[in-house]
Amino acid sequence: MAETAVARKIEKLRDELRRHEHLYYVLDAPEISDAEYDALLNELKKLEAAHPDLVTPDSPTQRVGGKPAEGFRKAQHSRPMLSLDNAYSAEELADWDRRVRELAGNLPVEYTAELKLDGLSVALSYEAAPNGGARLAMGLTRGDGQTGEDVTSNIRTIRSVPLSLPAERLKKAKLPQGIELRGEVVMPEAAFLLMNEEREREGLPAFVNPRNSAAGTLRTLDSSIVARRRLVFFAYFLLVDGEYFAAGQTATLDALTTLGFRVNPHRHLVSSVEEMMKFIDDAESKRATLGYEIDGVVLKVDAHATQQRLGYTGRAPRWAIAYKFTAKSGVTQVKSITVQVGRTGKLTPVAELAPVFIGGTTVSRATLHNADFIERLGLKLGDWVKVERGGDVIPKVVEVIEDADHPRGKHSFKFPTECPECGSKVVRAEGEADYRCVNADCPAKLRESLLHFGRREVMNIEGLGDAVVQQLAEKRLVKSVADLYELDEKALGSLEKEVVRVDKKTQQKIAKKEALLGPKAVKTLIEQIENSKKSGLARVLMGLGIRFVGERTAELLAQEFGSIEALMAASAEELERVEEVGPRISQAILEFFADKENRNLVKRLADAGVDMTAEKKQRTAQLAGLTFVLTGTLPTLTRDEAEEKIEAAGGKTSGSVSKKTSYVVAGEEAGSKLDKARELKIPVIDEKGLLALLAGGPAPS
Ligand code: IVH
Repeated sequence: MAETAVARKIEKLRDELRRHEHLYYVLDAPEISDAEYDALLNELKKLEAAHPDLVTPDSPTQRVGGKPAEGFRKAQHSRPMLSLDNAYSAEELADWDRRVRELAGNLPVEYTAELKLDGLSVALSYEAAPNGGARLAMGLTRGDGQTGEDVTSNIRTIRSVPLSLPAERLKKAKLPQGIELRGEVVMPEAAFLLMNEEREREGLPAFVNPRNSAAGTLRTLDSSIVARRRLVFFAYFLLVDGEYFAAGQTATLDALTTLGFRVNPHRHLVSSVEEMMKFIDDAESKRATLGYEIDGVVLKVDAHATQQRLGYTGRAPRWAIAYKFTAKSGVTQVKSITVQVGRTGKLTPVAELAPVFIGGTTVSRATLHNADFIERLGLKLGDWVKVERGGDVIPKVVEVIEDADHPRGKHSFKFPTECPECGSKVVRAEGEADYRCVNADCPAKLRESLLHFGRREVMNIEGLGDAVVQQLAEKRLVKSVADLYELDEKALGSLEKEVVRVDKKTQQKIAKKEALLGPKAVKTLIEQIENSKKSGLARVLMGLGIRFVGERTAELLAQEFGSIEALMAASAEELERVEEVGPRISQAILEFFADKENRNLVKRLADAGVDMTAEKKQRTAQLAGLTFVLTGTLPTLTRDEAEEKIEAAGGKTSGSVSKKTSYVVAGEEAGSKLDKARELKIPVIDEKGLLALLAGGPAPS
């Protein structure tokens, strides 16, 4: 193709990709499948690779994140990023409303009610681009309100942040090319849970809540990590020439929507305290199902003129207020700290609490994550602490209470130097937050890996609970998960439990051993174990407990490789072709299978008849193994484009029809190849048929 034709083609692809990003990440209404999106993106990547001079910073290929940064540069905000005053009750809102109305005089007073998103605020500036549009120039964190950190490279990875704003959109929103936006970066709850699972496997301290993780992520120096964390940006303010957009808050939110930003849909115009409270009640009832965290509602005077009349105090606008939900927390005393040993040998300290009723349940234990966390809290045994429960997350200790009513504890907690289960040494690897038990045969590790193996999301072996696992380990009936498949009725029948009876005559307590499982329970458990053999590759992969391989990664690996043999034979490069698998995960997989004992475990599972295959999903390789011959002129695709698409999807193209040809794609004025195809009874399809195959469907005949 001529250079200008390539340039045009590249721009066309970019526009198309941007349109689909907007549909997917902002409007939540995708028109094409992920595979189709990937195919378009691959096409663009290929063209850009062949024409590096045509790569621009706002190309959709440039979101992936660059090299780790050394640190963040500080930069001044164009206008201070202020904070908000808080209200906690209807009375406080009524006071504020009264003050606003007094100061507003004869100017209109109406409020926009918005959700208070629990993330961190950022300022994004866009600069004039040569094509009449605007380009993302800088993304700053709030910092101290005056200066923030330049996290542009990380912001660029957030899909709901457009890298460029087309001239038509700016025109439609009646805005100049240079503008600044402010809003909140949040981490959706699902992304938060996934990330913490991963961190835990990695031996890193879990983040306490999605807000901390969003903040931690945005300040990660390696933007390729940020790209995988799926942060979301909600815009709520617009600045033109360093001043708030002069059309008022509702108009601001509308303009932001027009520009293609994600604006939170839960907003409403209200004009009385009663209406404010209704919006607040609504927000609280929606809170659990939003998928991201909110911690209140923000009320903003809508009209710009009224905002200006009200002005600012030193730290906050007088025209806005944050109504904060009261946190679900309680204060209680730490009785002791116990240490649990996990599947990987990780030691987790747990606070044993005087029971306290929080948000509808009694809480008597809360995780303390690791030794560093205890140190950071400055926690001593006997301290009074504030414990919080958010949603269905595990209760957490958030701070130590220090006042006259709550005397401090005296004794510091000493983290054990020996495993509380087996007495072996515990070690803390350099750069890791966790201590681990070094004993490969630690009964706690065995117990936890058996429990993990049996979990519903893993091999789904009902009946493989605490008591059974404890006994299996104690009686040395099971030394690895593979031994489960050798258990027979006799072995399971020999498990015991201790029961205490009171002798009727002597009134003395007598401890007696009884069978833990009756004959029926034994039979059911054996059936359950037998059934688990059919769980398939993804679940087995999870069950093996490879570091960093959680539910989603296991599923993707299974779909890609189809069998454990194929996975074990894969190189780092092949592993990393799987979505979400980077060098860290591929390394962990390679290390796992390099270990003789692990390979032996796989072999034993296979010998026991455990199914370790999966249906391969032809995601980007829809056409793998197929050979195409093109003939004639296709209605929309050029010959080159059609070939590129076929190859990008794993198919081959050939110049002549033979028995090995899978399909002949015929357009207008197809020549002798078509005759040959008919002669050899090779299926003939048109462009539509080809596109259908590329999209993963059957070719229409
Ligand atoms: S307006 C000049 N609107 O809450 C005022 N803030 O407590 C600034 N926040 O720093 C903010 N959702 O990080 C505004 N819809 C929303 C918000 C919101 C969350 C955060 C923001 C701000 C903090 C103030």
